[in-house]
Amino acid sequence: MDLTGKRAFVTGGSGDIGGAIARALAGAGVDVAVSYVGNTDGADRSIAAIRACGRKGFAVRLDQRDPTSIADAAEKVRGEFGGLDILVNNAGWNIGIPFKDLETLNEDIWDRVLETNLRGPFLLSRALAGSLRESGSGRIINIASVGGLIPGSSSIAYSSSKAGLIHLTRCLAVALAPDVTVNCIAPGLVENTRMARNLPEKQANAARRQAVLGKVGSADDIAEQALVFCRTETITGQLMVVDGGMPGCMH
Ligand SMILES: NC(=O)c1ccc[n+]([C@@H]2O[C@H](COP(=O)([O-])OP(=O)(O)OC[C@H]3O[C@@H](n4cnc5c(N)ncnc54)[C@H](OP(=O)(O)O)[C@@H]3O)[C@@H](O)[C@H]2O)c1
Repeated sequence: MDLTGKRAFVTGGSGDIGGAIARALAGAGVDVAVSYVGNTDGADRSIAAIRACGRKGFAVRLDQRDPTSIADAAEKVRGEFGGLDILVNNAGWNIGIPFKDLETLNEDIWDRVLETNLRGPFLLSRALAGSLRESGSGRIINIASVGGLIPGSSSIAYSSSKAGLIHLTRCLAVALAPDVTVNCIAPGLVENTRMARNLPEKQANAARRQAVLGKVGSADDIAEQALVFCRTETITGQLMVVDGGMPGCMH
């Protein structure tokens, strides 16, 4: 499908992977709204890149732990664009807590991770489902993690939230068919991102060693895969792993 003139909302477009997805969409002729929660500089950079492609770009403040903020952001995006064709649920939050350290993973941290990474994408999809259905070729792309496939990554809460997001993808694919396709990308370690820099070096090196391609994922490859899911007409409820080929994630 030609994406020229489509309208997309990329949550977390102020961040590393969201910024790459926003730029790739704009390069393919898409008008793009990006969300940020505090990083206005990152949002400004993404908007400048979108506009440099000759597309409409604007930023929306969104704290997706807060249902009111979700409703407001959805309203603003719908209002500015007059509809929506593509929702990329990319925003996410993590904190490093070793799996064995059960006591440190308290209720507040659990709720923050699950509300941001799992409930937020559901509430955003629900808030924008009407517009995506009206589009006639609506697309939702969720950005999960290989931590949702294997019991690993930054914390039990993060791993569980991303496993939930992978399954939410399938549930929404059923719920929103035939008007909207819903697919998921699971990055492994993504070099040159804030999240990767925050990972303990030992864990990052282990991911690099396991990747059979000799390199882990890149934000640009994730963005390319997002474009594929936007363009295809007959793929829904699917997961694509972008991780340099870790054998443990070759399901
Ligand atoms: N980087 C990796 O190695 C890696 C690996 C696997 C999966 N992922 C996933 O890829 C996605 C993007 O990660 P990234 O590396 O680009 O991280 P990032 O640069 O830290 O970006 C995270 C984005 O999420 C936003 N955000 C955080 N909390 C939020 C909240 N409560 N409500 C709304 N937005 C919120 C941030 O907003 P502000 O910028 O305004 O703070 C930022 O735009 C995430 O879902 C992450 O779990 C990343």
